[in-house]
Amino acid sequence: MTRIAIFASGNGSNAENLIRNLTHGRVVLLLCNNPQAYVLQRAKRLHIPTVLFSKEELEDPSHEYSVLKLLKTHKIDFIILAGFLWKIPEDMIRAWPKKIVNIHPALLPKYGGPGMYGDHVHKAVMENGEKETGITIHIVDPQYDHGHIIYQESFQIYSSDTPKTIALRIHFLEQLRFPKVVDDYLKQLFKDPAV
Ligand code: GAR
Repeated sequence: MTRIAIFASGNGSNAENLIRNLTHGRVVLLLCNNPQAYVLQRAKRLHIPTVLFSKEELEDPSHEYSVLKLLKTHKIDFIILAGFLWKIPEDMIRAWPKKIVNIHPALLPKYGGPGMYGDHVHKAVMENGEKETGITIHIVDPQYDHGHIIYQESFQIYSSDTPKTIALRIHFLEQLRFPKVVDDYLKQLFKDPAV
């Protein structure tokens, strides 16, 4: 069985959806950098062990409590970034090649990079008068919000849309697609049967 760790920083609607609905792997750990994040409560409710970590623990593999060591101890096969806002260090990308995926609330390569998360993305999209936006699911490489795209879906922006309605429409699409896209990718990567 493919053992999955989810990284999340905030609300955690995607993390919860993945925990509930993935069939080609089991989420065994949720890692979070923000002690106030609601995702911690969601994970506890779903009986998924949670770990809070600092930037040093993420970035320094020789740290006593390094995230890299923790993932290895838990024999993690695959990592999902579900609303995680820090950059993943290169040693982790080397340790899990093509095995870290991220979801981004825009049509990458546009509207990605540092500072481009959540409502900041939707405001920028609207300010630039874009006609469409959408979601991107991609493999994580050393560049922020960059890497091979495994799924992208767009929708039209209406004149009545605001950053708030865009955010709702993005979340709806993410809820609909993320588990299935990850399941299809896991199936092809590990050839595990469904649980
Ligand atoms: C999601 O919309 C995700 O695409 C976005 O954060 C939100 C998290 O929502 N990710 C990024 O902006 C990454 N750059 P959630 O905590 O409810 O899953």
